[in-house]
Amino acid sequence: MSTATPVAPCDFVVFGGTGDLAVRKLLPALYLRDRDGQLTADTRIIAVSRAGLDESGYRDKVRGELGRFVAADTLDDVTVNRFLARLQYASIDFADADDWDQLTALLPGPDTGKVRVFYLACAPSLFGPISQHLATHRLVGESSRVVLEKPIGQDLASARAINDAVGSVFAESQIFRIDHYLGKESVQNLLVTRFANTFLEPLWNSSWIDHVQITVSESLGVGTRGGYYDNSGALRDMVQNHLLQVLCLVAMEPPTYVDRETVRDEKLKVLQALKPMTAGDVERCTVAGQYGPGLADGAAVPGYKEDAENPDSHTETFAAVKAEVRNWRWAGVPFYLRTGKRMEQRSSEVVIVFKPVPHPMFPDSDGHSEPNKLVIQLQPKAGMRLHMTAKEPGPGGIRLKPVSLDLNYTEAFQRPSPDAYERLLMDVVRGNPTLFMRRDEVEASWAWVEPILIGWTQNERGPRRYPAGTNGPTDATLLIERDGRTWHEGATP
Ligand code: BG6
Repeated sequence: MSTATPVAPCDFVVFGGTGDLAVRKLLPALYLRDRDGQLTADTRIIAVSRAGLDESGYRDKVRGELGRFVAADTLDDVTVNRFLARLQYASIDFADADDWDQLTALLPGPDTGKVRVFYLACAPSLFGPISQHLATHRLVGESSRVVLEKPIGQDLASARAINDAVGSVFAESQIFRIDHYLGKESVQNLLVTRFANTFLEPLWNSSWIDHVQITVSESLGVGTRGGYYDNSGALRDMVQNHLLQVLCLVAMEPPTYVDRETVRDEKLKVLQALKPMTAGDVERCTVAGQYGPGLADGAAVPGYKEDAENPDSHTETFAAVKAEVRNWRWAGVPFYLRTGKRMEQRSSEVVIVFKPVPHPMFPDSDGHSEPNKLVIQLQPKAGMRLHMTAKEPGPGGIRLKPVSLDLNYTEAFQRPSPDAYERLLMDVVRGNPTLFMRRDEVEASWAWVEPILIGWTQNERGPRRYPAGTNGPTDATLLIERDGRTWHEGATP
């Protein structure tokens, strides 16, 4: 039985309605929310694209795609037909001023209290022009919201220009900048783990923590997204947004309570406390990599240049960065960030490595105590493992052995987690921006990342090669080992 509370009636307009994101993520998420009873009877989904389909052509397409991207046991004819009946289609060349009649016919006049969501699942260069067209055609009202997909720009200046252009039509409270990592249950659980339990907080600082690792590794390559990815790279695609957002949740101070602004205020303070990267820091504290040919699931796969169909590409598919948060809590604690495509396995985790014991008390023992480590696995399986040291039972002296305390969220709750987009799309309709990035956060992230982008562009050596199916270039191993530390490897925490 559904436990979901219906959200307000809504017209959900998806620009890029036939694109990869809409087909793979947005429509499946809306279908599942519909199935759970969260969409009211008069909620419509209007797809806008240049594909030149008509309504029945679009419905046929979505019927076929749902079967690919929604679990078979959640597809039933009644719900599918109800969902398809919500779909309407407008064929528009977004940039063409004369082409908007189809949409205005479907959305006559500004909203009159019914929530209107404009989801811009298209190139960021179109965010400003589309917003302007929406304003010119008087489609924006007080109950309208706009959702911007990342990346918001290519650098700080372009991000500001986009924010200005969209901001000239929509108020900041109407702008929802999506980072789907914030919609993941396991990422939201970082806040709950830290702030709904007491035992961690006294230890969560530079007195007890030696360093933090944040890894998001993917086993897939760039697939069919080479065109986009080759102009982006791992730093823009993953670090500027997903990894920095996770870092913020790990490092932020407790907000007085969790609401739309306080969490974002605290995250912003973390971004502003990141030590700016000098050219020398970029040289010493960052590594760019690009996958070459190698193995994936035991099969030979081509390298990135072939995947992206650009033999001269210098785009990085791997990034490792040693960051510092310069504030009272974290002074001197390095945060090692790492992400890459075509790595050994798909695994996202936060590893908190505690300081070693101050004095070895068991001099005659076999073994030694390793520093405690809290591994928070975000995906593929959400869970937590606390690495500890124990006495191995038995007579004759003391033998120290590593043991662990494990928590597996799927077992604990006996239910699968919804996809991040399901939660986030409903938050947009509810008008709740807590899990979305505010303008100042996005711009602070770009400001920090930009010197790395510049340094890498000026580096004639280009990114370091790593074979597909491995955990990045040797330089990334050296980045952490030079400091006497090692990367935690493993999909199970
Ligand atoms: C997207 C990136 O934002 O996140 C992709 O553009 C990446 O390149 C994806 O593959 C990873 O998301 P997830 O949810 O699979 O970890």
